[in-house]
Amino acid sequence: MAVTSAAALALTVAPMDAAAVSGGGGLSEGLAGKDLSGQDLRKYKLTKANLRQTNLSGANLEGVSLFGSLSEGAVFKGANLRNADLESGNYEDADFSDAIMEGAYVNNAQFVRVNIKGSDWTDVVLRKDIQKALCAIADGVNPTTGVATRDSLLCP
Ligand SMILES: *[C@@H]1O[C@H](CO)[C@@H](O)[C@H](O)[C@H]1NC(C)=O
Repeated sequence: MAVTSAAALALTVAPMDAAAVSGGGGLSEGLAGKDLSGQDLRKYKLTKANLRQTNLSGANLEGVSLFGSLSEGAVFKGANLRNADLESGNYEDADFSDAIMEGAYVNNAQFVRVNIKGSDWTDVVLRKDIQKALCAIADGVNPTTGVATRDSLLCP
């Protein structure tokens, strides 16, 4: 399984340098629906990437730009999204359960029908209405940081 996903990764993801050389558009295709679970993706640039239904369970996305990504139905279960840029992305139906969102940038991100059970939103700046919507569904405790989802969202 690890071998399969590593091979898929090699075929479909170009390192950031290569992407920069080719203009950065090359990453958008080929990742949808892929199994990238458990991968260290910190060197990759996923700006505007198509991550629909992509399995990023347990992936390390710390500091990665997912700006404008199309991540409908993506699975970020237990992923490390510390300081990642999720701005202007579409995360409808995405699974953020147990994910670490600490310090992530989420301005303009669409969090519709998301699963955020056990996720940690410490130091994430949220618009009031988004915070309210997330608090309405927040529960659980992050297994890695030990922080309660509701506490991390500063829910009343
Ligand atoms: C995603 O990957 C994890 C780890 O390999 C696996 O347990 C899980 O079933 C996968 N989820 C989906 C929706 O494919």
